[in-house]
Amino acid sequence: MSEKSQIGVTGLAVMGANLARNIGRNGWSVAVHNRSPEKTRHFMAEYASEADFTGTESSEEFVEALARPRKIIIMVKAGAPVDGVIEELAPLLDDGDILIDAGNSHFPDTKRRTAELEERGLRFLGVGVSGGEEGALLGPSIMPGGTREAYAEVEEIFTKIAAQVDGTPCCTFVGPDGAGHYVKMVHNGIEYADIQLITEAYDLMRNVAGLTVPEIAKTFEEWNEGDLESFLIEITAKVLAKQDPQGDGPLIDVIVDQAEQKGTGRWTSEDALELGVPLTAITEAVFARALSSLKDERTAASKILAGPEPAKTEDRRELLDDIQHALYASKVVAYAQGFQQMAAASEKEGWDLDLGAMATIWRGGCIIRARFLDRIKEAYDDGEVVNLLTVPYFRDAVASGDAAWRRVINAAVDQGVAVPAFTSSLAYYDGYRREHGPAGLIQGLRDYFGAHTYRRTDAEGSYHVRWPQDGAEVRTDA
Ligand code: 6PG
Repeated sequence: MSEKSQIGVTGLAVMGANLARNIGRNGWSVAVHNRSPEKTRHFMAEYASEADFTGTESSEEFVEALARPRKIIIMVKAGAPVDGVIEELAPLLDDGDILIDAGNSHFPDTKRRTAELEERGLRFLGVGVSGGEEGALLGPSIMPGGTREAYAEVEEIFTKIAAQVDGTPCCTFVGPDGAGHYVKMVHNGIEYADIQLITEAYDLMRNVAGLTVPEIAKTFEEWNEGDLESFLIEITAKVLAKQDPQGDGPLIDVIVDQAEQKGTGRWTSEDALELGVPLTAITEAVFARALSSLKDERTAASKILAGPEPAKTEDRRELLDDIQHALYASKVVAYAQGFQQMAAASEKEGWDLDLGAMATIWRGGCIIRARFLDRIKEAYDDGEVVNLLTVPYFRDAVASGDAAWRRVINAAVDQGVAVPAFTSSLAYYDGYRREHGPAGLIQGLRDYFGAHTYRRTDAEGSYHVRWPQDGAEVRTDA
């Protein structure tokens, strides 16, 4: 028997295969395995010459091929398939072996699996990996959660295979049990918001400013030279510039306008609702995908519901500048909200998340990688952050684009173009910067119909008005 492999990867769809190749190319020996052995054979036929790979066809052979303590990366579809693989492998493992779930698992599942496997003497890491197929192969952003001592066993591998920015790996220990998958979930939620904001900017350019698709592609290309520089802006220019391979005109015009989703954005919003954190941009992005999917209803409604039609007559140059500002300001809000959510979760779960470190590992490799994240990292380096919106750099950036942001939203509303993420981001901003809001009325109404009580601005305690009786105010906590 040849020497045992240093690490194993099970699940050889594109992400798993590319991760295995990345690890192999960086000098580690890798045993590979897949539920259906054809995939393993295919992998070995294609890539065996790239690195020290051992193809294995059964779980027993796979486990047997690994040096102890075994380190096994599971890269399968989130949900039941992960439990299936764990159930298959766990009985074959020895105390102290480490199972590593590198898929997009929901963090409560990761918490459960961590507890269950620890009970069985095994160690478990829930690791967020972002970067798509190319990232997995060339350098992803990696968000590992679990125990520090289990992470220490794979730290060298993970930090080496991760993307590197200014010599810093886009991988750092995130926190206990579900923390790594939690942070990956919020990353994906922010990805939803970023994509939605870009899509709204595209809609405005096309239907309010009246630009052609090639002109819009060019504009995104230009924006990618400035503060908005990011992977998503870069690929937006490329997607829009693509000609239809099967006909004339831009490809975008023949892609069905129904957005799909696998659930990570929804999980982020659901969790924000649980935590009571206003996460409006991400949540609007999830809802916008849901609305887009109602194609038949939209088609019928388009024939009967009244409203303005976009006039495409705005002053283009000025409107384009405004859209750029609106996009930037809304993006600040989306990130501010995502970071607030991570802070709240960290507090609730006792994870002690280092949010500056999260910005650092998102600077490269992942889908939301952007120049912007350097600014967020700097904000956390400079001290305590209550909300990114109040950090001087972002406060000033938003203030300088404030009027443009409002003009864009006004134009969109006037012309009947829906911009839910832009609008809800501005609403959050206006709500957040207001000392005296209208919520006293909510409290008054709750007290009227349900005796839910209210607090006063000028005195301690809880109060209730005997509304239907004598209208007198009584203190309820005395
Ligand atoms: C990443 C991506 C990746 C995946 C998204 C797509 O970070 O590499 O986020 O995880 O492409 O989950 O999500 P939807 O299918 O829900 O848009």
